[in-house]
Amino acid sequence: TRPKTILSGIQPTGIPHLGNYLGALANWVKLQNEASPEDRLLYSIVGWHALTLPQDPKTLRAARWEMLASLLAIGLDPKRSILFHQDHNPDHTELAWILNCLCPVGKLKRMTTWKSTQARLAASRNANDESEVDESLLNAGLFTYPILQAADILAYRATHVPVGEDQQQHLELSRDIAETFNRAFPKPKKIFPLPQRILTPSRRILSLRDPSSKMSKSSPDVQSRILLTDEFIQIQSKIRSAVTDSQPGVTFDPVNRPGVSNIINILATCTNEDPEKVAGLYASKGHAQLKSDTAEAVEALLQQPREEFRRLKEEKSYLDEIAKDGATRAKGISEVTMALVRLKTGL
Ligand code: ADP
Ligand code: NA
Repeated sequence: TRPKTILSGIQPTGIPHLGNYLGALANWVKLQNEASPEDRLLYSIVGWHALTLPQDPKTLRAARWEMLASLLAIGLDPKRSILFHQDHNPDHTELAWILNCLCPVGKLKRMTTWKSTQARLAASRNANDESEVDESLLNAGLFTYPILQAADILAYRATHVPVGEDQQQHLELSRDIAETFNRAFPKPKKIFPLPQRILTPSRRILSLRDPSSKMSKSSPDVQSRILLTDEFIQIQSKIRSAVTDSQPGVTFDPVNRPGVSNIINILATCTNEDPEKVAGLYASKGHAQLKSDTAEAVEALLQQPREEFRRLKEEKSYLDEIAKDGATRAKGISEVTMALVRLKTGL
């Protein structure tokens, strides 16, 4: 089999929560540890994408290094994986511009992420409170967000991209744009492989306070999420106060018992078991037992990353070095692509 180039990105949202970790980042580590020596792995913190939403500069700057420290803390190895800030490599934006000029506006208008933002804005326009309407939500950056994502991928001619369900349409667009470029400039040979999706085992972790929504950094209720850096005592208290239901006993039934099922799912994911099997083991036990065992399993998973994060927090210059080295290695790959792109397009 041909060597793979695996690429993925995450926004600089600061310290990841358990959903980010179990739903996305743990898989990055797994891919790294299972990769063959010829495979290339690139993991990027996508600061330019973050700017499509309002950001406080101080918070964003802190969140950037917190995310980098977190990636290292969970076991991404900078010797093995190229860890870098997207915005340290201007090849992404140059390529994004060129791809902008190859992508019909209609395709971007069909992106569900764009359509849902439009719908949200329309809803707030119709709401009573005029002051809540934020026109900047429909900025041009948000509209072309998927093109920048395509550039992130194609700059390294990535062959494999781990993405969740929510990003599948964007990856489709990246493939589409790669094909368009290849068709427009086929000679002497097509330069872009069509990036394939690596299916991340779907592990949707729900809010501990409202199991009808997913665990998210944006909920104002900090009890609703567990952070990578939470102490055992915080993990215990958050899981103990997690919303379940009044039905006695434990069954895995995500539709009718989302709260209990979420706890089962967290425990099963942490211990690498099947949720149904875990539910069977707890069938005759109470919610309290399930919760306390889950807190212990989460602690077992997070203890080492938490301690590693603490250590790295004091090592700002080390983090800067990692980021700088990552950017240099990333650039070394993308500049080869960009030389070909410029040649082909006549620049
Ligand atoms: P948030 O929803 O907190 O804003 P992001 O949208 O920044 O998180 O997501 C970053 C990554 O983490 C994505 O790959 C996303 O699919 C994954 N992710 C986020 N929340 C969860 C969750 N609750 N369960 C599983 N995966 C999640
Ligand atoms: Na989000």
